[in-house]
Amino acid sequence: MSAHGSPTPMMSSPSGPLSGVADVPGDKSISHRSLILGAMAVGETRITGLLEGEDVLDTARAMRAFGAEVTDHGGGAWSVHGVGVGGFAEPGQVIDCGNSGTGVRLIMGAMATSPITATFTGDASLNKRPMARVTDPLAQFGAQAVGRSGGRLPMTIVGAADPLPVRYAVPVPSAQVKSAVLLAGLNAPGRTVVIEKEATRDHTERMLAGFGAEIATEDTEEGRVITLTGQPELRPQEIVVPRDPSSAAFPVCAALIVPGSDVLVPGIGLNPTRAGLFTTLREMGADLTYENAREEGGEPVADLRARYSPDMKGIDVPPDRAASMIDEYPVLSVVAANASGVTMMRGVAELRVKESDRIDAMAEGLRANGVAVEEGPDWWSVTGHGPGSVAGGATCASRLDHRIAMSFMVLGMAAQAPVTVDDGGPIATSFPIFEPLMGRLGAALSHPAG
Ligand code: S3P
Repeated sequence: MSAHGSPTPMMSSPSGPLSGVADVPGDKSISHRSLILGAMAVGETRITGLLEGEDVLDTARAMRAFGAEVTDHGGGAWSVHGVGVGGFAEPGQVIDCGNSGTGVRLIMGAMATSPITATFTGDASLNKRPMARVTDPLAQFGAQAVGRSGGRLPMTIVGAADPLPVRYAVPVPSAQVKSAVLLAGLNAPGRTVVIEKEATRDHTERMLAGFGAEIATEDTEEGRVITLTGQPELRPQEIVVPRDPSSAAFPVCAALIVPGSDVLVPGIGLNPTRAGLFTTLREMGADLTYENAREEGGEPVADLRARYSPDMKGIDVPPDRAASMIDEYPVLSVVAANASGVTMMRGVAELRVKESDRIDAMAEGLRANGVAVEEGPDWWSVTGHGPGSVAGGATCASRLDHRIAMSFMVLGMAAQAPVTVDDGGPIATSFPIFEPLMGRLGAALSHPAG
């Protein structure tokens, strides 16, 4: 169910060849950060290619509530008139971040070192997710948090009036936690240091440097050590948001498993901290090429070309690649179901605390559609029997999780019988044009009666 309506079941029927150009929307991670850093700069940041999905729109509303002027100029062009580091106003209302863990965790970080109080909430999915991973380091800056049991939303953060800089080793591989600490560090005097054992997406670091903050990253024996000097004046930027590799994953994976397909997905961000899925697919034997590699807005970008790949094999996905493809395991499991042999995915405990427990959600739906899945606390495996082997025919729960809903729609495109999700509404959080875009490529998506 979307935040605003009743459940909309969605069905994906076996598809003819997919072909054409898939213009996927802007990157969700970079879109959130553009709005938040724009709000913390002095003056006007202009953004083009912003993802206008529900998650990002919730962050835009939140930035207005903290005092920034956020304007939608149409067609993905936005501007943010920022209030400067430490300039946030106290919101008059509860901040509703909808479905977005990134939105709420980054915003909590950004406000935690200002002398203001804010209360955060979200939808039924977000209100189940762990927030202590963010409020623990924010407490070290001097912020206080009071939430529901287990550190869940709704939650109130009382920002630190006299923040202290922090040195924090992130205990779980999480770009959201790293980013929350860095954003809090912006308004603390002195140096804030974040250490991560495994490199996670580095958009916050890149963007902070672009906005003029003093930030350095060093790879050491301890891990990746990121040092930020607090209380900079952030200079407004012109930001071009690259297209989202996590959204590109859906047309790419669909093209690989639907017979006869040939799809071009232009302008996709290929930051190495995000591109693990494409490496994995190529190792499985996918006919996936990068064309016209270039740099846009400080991020590496290329056009992806995916063609039907009937000879893909299951592989062991290296656990040290998990952070670079964490959102892509659900759709990888759909490709694995259409490859030959076992695909083993280890080191992925974080999948259990996303918008849903993604291992459980995919295992349940894949099994209902005739696919063999095994799972443990931090691993799962899918056994595939090659092209055309998935029976399909079942209805799966999307569990308020956009990526689960879209993954099952891709499953249906290459199955023997249609696959249905109980609710396609959550797709609007990250990929509002998924249905028309996939339809133009040739996919047969429809809406059965609920
Ligand atoms: C994100 C980080 C990841 C990812 C999420 C977006 C970000 O979450 O799953 O979709 O933009 O920082 P974690 O930080 O929980 O790994």
